[in-house]
Parts: sequence; C-alpha cells; structure tokens
Amino acid sequence: MSASKIKAPRGTFDVLGEQASARSALEARARAILEGAGYERIETPVFEATDLFARGVGESTDIVRKEMFTFQDAGGRSLTLRPEGTAPVCRAYVEHGMHKRRQPVKLWYLSSFFRHERAQAGRFRQFWQVGAEALGSEDPAVDAESITLLATLLAELQVREVRLRLSSLGSLESRSEYRERLQAHLRAHEQGLSEDVRSRIELNPLRAFDSEHPGTREVMASAPLLLEHLSAEDAEHFAHVRGLLDAANVAYEVDPTLVRGLDYYTRTVFEFTSDALGAQSGVGGGGRYDGLVEQLGGPATAGMGWAAGIERIMLAGDARTAAPAPVELFIALEDPGAELRTAAFGLLAEARSAGLSAQMDLGGRSLKGQLGHAGALGARFVAIVGQGHTILKDMQGGGQETIATGAVVHAVLRGHHAL
Ligand code: HAM
Repeated sequence: MSASKIKAPRGTFDVLGEQASARSALEARARAILEGAGYERIETPVFEATDLFARGVGESTDIVRKEMFTFQDAGGRSLTLRPEGTAPVCRAYVEHGMHKRRQPVKLWYLSSFFRHERAQAGRFRQFWQVGAEALGSEDPAVDAESITLLATLLAELQVREVRLRLSSLGSLESRSEYRERLQAHLRAHEQGLSEDVRSRIELNPLRAFDSEHPGTREVMASAPLLLEHLSAEDAEHFAHVRGLLDAANVAYEVDPTLVRGLDYYTRTVFEFTSDALGAQSGVGGGGRYDGLVEQLGGPATAGMGWAAGIERIMLAGDARTAAPAPVELFIALEDPGAELRTAAFGLLAEARSAGLSAQMDLGGRSLKGQLGHAGALGARFVAIVGQGHTILKDMQGGGQETIATGAVVHAVLRGHHAL
C-alpha cells in the first residue's frame, strides 16, 4: 500500500521557479528604494507573545477576534504567529532602546505573516508583506515620504490601476469626542444596522464605515464624518501631509470614510487599491500610530508606516521575472570517470573563487547531454575536461582551443574581458 500524499495546508502555497525569481526581483526593487531613503532592514521572530497583538492590534479587530494562529508552548505561555509587522517592530524599538538613536528610526521588512482568513484569490493564510516603519517623529514630512515611497515602489513594479485613498483619524483625544457623536448616531439608527456592527458600537464604532451591509451603508450615509471634526492641530497636520504629497506629485483622493482594520491608527491613514484585483483590492496601506509604542510599555513615541502584500503586488503588477544569472562557464566531462570528476570539481572551485559564475554536470549525463544542458543554460564558455587537457569552447564566438586544465579560468577571464 502506498502512503497517502500530503498537501500544503489550505491558504498556503509553495514559491517556485518563475514566482521565486519574480519575488527576488521585487525584493531587490524594494531594497533599493527603501535603503536609498535611509530605511534599515529588520527581521523580527515569526511568533511573539499573544499579548503583543492583543494590546497592539486591538481586541476589537477581526484580526485579534478571529484570525490569529495562537498556541501554547510547553511552559503554558500563549504565543501567536505574527499577523502583521507593526506591533513587533514597535516591540523591538522598545526592547533595543532605539529611542536613544537619532530619530526617526526608519526600518523595513519583507516577511511572511499569518491570518486565519477565508482563503480566496489574493487572500491567504500565510502571505508576505513588504513594510516600512518610521518611529520617533511627528513631522508630516515623515507621512508624506513614507506614502511616496510606496507609491514609487508600486509604480516601478507597474502595478496596474492604482488608486490612493487618504484620510485622517485625528489624534486619540479628538477622536474620543467624535466617537461619542458617532455612537449616538448608530444607536439612534440601530434597527438598520448589521448584527456585527451593532455588536461593535461600544468597542469600535468606526468600523461601521467598512460594512458592506446595505442597511448599515444607508445609516452611514448620514453619519457624522471624523474629518469634519478634527482638532485644529490635527487638521493642520493633515493639510501639511496633503501639501507635501502634492509637491511630490503623488495623486490621491481624500476619503473621509476610510477606516483601517487595525486599532492603532491616529492622524494620517491611507490605502492603495488596484482595480485590477477584484474583491481583495487592497494592495497596501498604513498610517500613523502615535500611541502604539507607549501602549506597548515604551516611551511616548510617534510612528508612521505601511505594509503591502507581495502576492497582490504580483497579481496586479507586471510580474517580470529577474533574468536568470548568466552562466559564464559550464564544465563538462569527456567521460564519467572519477579522476576527471575530481579535476572538474577542482576547476569549478577555482572558477568560482575567481568570481565566475560556473556550473558543472551533476546529473551523470553523457557528453552530448552535458553540452545540451550547457546550451539550455546559455553558458558563455564550456570547458570539456579530458585526460591531461581541456577543450575550451567559446559558445558565442564559436571557436575552441585545447589548453591545460589549469589555464581555463585565466582564458575565460581574458575572453570575458575582451567582450
Ligand atoms: P493591512 O492592511 O492589514 O495592514 O495589510 C497590509 C497589506 O497586506 C494589505 O493591503 C494586503 O495587500 C496584504 N494582506 C493582508 N492580509 C492578507 C492576506 N490574508 N492575504 C494576502 N495579502 C494580505 C497591516 O498589516 C499594517 N501592519 C500596515 C502598517 C504598517 N500600518 C502601519 N505600519
């Protein structure tokens, strides 16, 4: 009896072949753009104390209420596979005393995240995000720079039909007054609301703007808008951010109904969507989170950042694969004897330490098969290692010469420089 096959879990996928090389190309673009703007790479653990997300992302969010992969370790501690990257970055900022460094501290990541969501096109249970966080400055220029960097990344990756929606949620103080106003509106129209929205009037009334439920949408059409109730300071901050985005030629729509699925936001919030994506149209989003570091036990610290979904960028973008690295030298064996194999292996090591990209036959192929393989790789030179000599073939120029095996690397380097 043969064993049954085991498949990857629902909502997960393997990254192979062209997909893997498209991801490498995307990562290289992200690194160039973000490190060029002074962001440093950070990697945090795949799992964290559950409390980090409960406190950081917020007890009232879908993520914390129903989407976390949570487990207990042998010591009975509750751990959670990270559903997002902002709370972990803030934890690391506090843990490593980064408030003592020159502010803002700018960090970027490209990592996998986990949410127990209903899997569908563009929505997975393990997915990848590229993200950027700037901690320690309230300056509206941080907001505008951060948003501009994501706009640049999406443009360079040719993500199609992109729209940027922008709003401000105000600071925590100005929001609490507005919350009461909105709660009063929701209570007055309670019978029109969905069950879900009704259950969150106390905890998170703003999420009502996100609802697809027709009755709720009708109630929300006449709801008071937060943007119209910002404090003078918050309104000024938002005006600055808009002015800077205009100066950088980043097009956006102000959308006063924009709310995000995480509780930590204050002031600026934004979302890039692509109309090429269908139902899961969010390509990337983020905003300010000026209270989060303090909420996690650190000093009062401003924060601003975003994350964008790698799979959605690739679905809506031009998933051009990186050109495979050229093979400069392919080493073939005249016959399969052990002695030639050892000589060829020595030559391979010598070529690589001289900086050449080199490969040799590892499949026990015939000489014909090895030459076919070298052709398929597009090798520039092929060395056929024989007893006491090597035939070096120039696959571009078409010539060949018989030389000592020890002279091959030099000849390839010379031929290479002559190009
Ligand atoms: P988010 O909006 O939850 O924000 O996720 C950001 C992006 O991750 C989404 O726009 C989407 O492209 C992608 N994404 C989210 N969930 C899934 C999924 N299940 N499958 C595939 N892609 C997904 C955050 O995570 C915040 N930490 C962003 C942030 C950073 N805010 C401030 N700094």
